[in-house]
Amino acid sequence: MTTTGFADRLRLSRRETLRALGGAAAGLSFMRMAGATASAADRVAAVDWEQIPSQFLMDPELAYLNTGSLGASPLAALEAARAAAQQIEQNPVAQGFGPVLADAEKTRQVFADLLGCKLEEVCVTGNTSDGMNLVAEGLNLQPGDHVVTTNHEHAGGRRCWEFLAKRRGVILDFADIGSPPASEDEVVDRVASAITPKTRVISVSQVTFSSGVQLPIARLSELAHRSGCLLCVDGAQAAGALPVNVAELGCDTYATSGHKWLLGAKGTGLLYVSERVKDRVAPMRLDDGYGVYTAIGGTNDMVGIIGLAAAVEWAGTLGHAAVFERIMRSREELYAALAVQPGVKINSPPSGSSMASHLVCFTIEDHDKLGKVNEQFAKDKIVVKTVHHGGIDFRVGCHVYNRPEDISRFAASLKAAMT
Ligand SMILES: Cc1ncc(COP(=O)(O)O)c(C=O)c1O
Repeated sequence: MTTTGFADRLRLSRRETLRALGGAAAGLSFMRMAGATASAADRVAAVDWEQIPSQFLMDPELAYLNTGSLGASPLAALEAARAAAQQIEQNPVAQGFGPVLADAEKTRQVFADLLGCKLEEVCVTGNTSDGMNLVAEGLNLQPGDHVVTTNHEHAGGRRCWEFLAKRRGVILDFADIGSPPASEDEVVDRVASAITPKTRVISVSQVTFSSGVQLPIARLSELAHRSGCLLCVDGAQAAGALPVNVAELGCDTYATSGHKWLLGAKGTGLLYVSERVKDRVAPMRLDDGYGVYTAIGGTNDMVGIIGLAAAVEWAGTLGHAAVFERIMRSREELYAALAVQPGVKINSPPSGSSMASHLVCFTIEDHDKLGKVNEQFAKDKIVVKTVHHGGIDFRVGCHVYNRPEDISRFAASLKAAMT
């Protein structure tokens, strides 16, 4: 029976990663670059990006541009999860309530480090929606209390408030923001004008799912706190793709998914609740604390949680800054390709804007061409998200497993459909 613990499995993953990055030479150069003096650009240059796709099971024929719906896990994460599953299955109670549970508990420190919070402030969930639901349920809002959100929210961050509106007489107010908004000021002003003396919560995405707008969360936190409200953030489209530090963002709660940009197991998520507001956000499931197993919370998906932590650690071996930089460079290429395509309206902020994210969303101006575009993407094996929200048609974004040719194939496919 293997008794390899979480840390050992991660050490193994790191060795495997470095091997796949091109052997000892690449490993040593990466280690040197990982020193405090390396800039993000140095870190990007230190990674052999061409080797990265070989660390995933992704079908090489696909140009997979829909990590925003589900990401792929690196082999290192799959292996860590497989090892944990094997360990449990050999003696479920002894292992699953013993060393494997202890390993899963340790992962919370990985997640706390990732989000920039304390261990006691982060718990594992099943997904972003689950985290948002826990927050909404735990707030104990009363009939007549108001919640402000935007017209860009995904159901996973919005349905919880709609539930409270339907069942408990809570009133939901929408701030209409443009696709894309003209400026951060526009966003802050529109949210501010939706606030009433009875507003208790402002709930927004860090990155909007349909328009790829990075909302000014730190400014919205200030606004919320000035107005006596909590700021609850849906981070499904952010964590893993861009830097997230909840202390710097100043938000009160932050929910995200493990299975998108964090490249983790499907059906995993994270929830941060600031210790400042734990007395105000108190869902039943967290009444015995934020551990992976608690009496009121019961048994969780330890295998998935261990896999998610291994995926986060794997990205850390490349350098999170390098990963973010690489993702944003790909976004610039996606944006540039769309900007020169006649008949396309881009709904996301331009590259270089403080509101630009890794996601680029767009609309086909002549909707008669939409069927042809969809057919062409399918024929050319280009995987995009069809949005169906706010009149926006498609969303694309790259992660580390995307190759430069994925972007050129996407652009060529779109061009073929549009001409
Ligand atoms: C902004 C946003 N919030 C929430 C969700 C729901 O995510 P999950 O299925 O992990 O709950 C998504 C999914 O795409 C999303 O884009």
